[in-house]
Amino acid sequence: MNQRLTVLALVVAAMVLTSNSGFAQDAAKGEQVFKQCMTCHRIGPDAKNLVGPALTGVIGRQSGTAPGFAYSALNKAAGENGLVWTDDLVMAYLPDPNAFLKKFLTDKGKADLATGSTKMTYKLEDEQKRKDVIAYINKFSEKK
Ligand code: HEC
Repeated sequence: MNQRLTVLALVVAAMVLTSNSGFAQDAAKGEQVFKQCMTCHRIGPDAKNLVGPALTGVIGRQSGTAPGFAYSALNKAAGENGLVWTDDLVMAYLPDPNAFLKKFLTDKGKADLATGSTKMTYKLEDEQKRKDVIAYINKFSEKK
């Protein structure tokens, strides 16, 4: 009887673990998602700025500070007013970069700077894809 219960408990535990992993971040899947970003971005040790800034090290970096990239005033102003990219902030940014940056500045009391638009015209809504692509980007960032 006890043994049966132990087996049952193990089966249940295994089921919980497997189902949870379905919602976890998956860097391998994120690499596939990142192909959509590669129209404009590169990432990795030798990545260069393209249409968009190199995303190597972007997690933990102040917004608008990739060396040599000509950012929009909006993206730069957000960084100058305290925007340092974290997983959660990139999560919130990707569905609507323009709205995110304007809200960030407005919340900081800088509504006067929340004008114009970001050059990042791409939007990624899908939650799982956002999680996965952030897991992938994190592989190229020292801070999390
Ligand atoms: C159509 C081109 C394009 C695509 C596709 C694109 N981006 Fe961008 N991205 C940009 C540009 C341009 C900027 C700079 C924005 C500015 O200066 O306002 C940017 C900025 C960013 C930033 C802020 C960088 C910083 O240094 O502050 C992040 C993070 C980012 N993109 C992530 C992504 C991710 C992740 C994807 C794919 C899901 C993606 N982008 C797809 C063009 C693009």
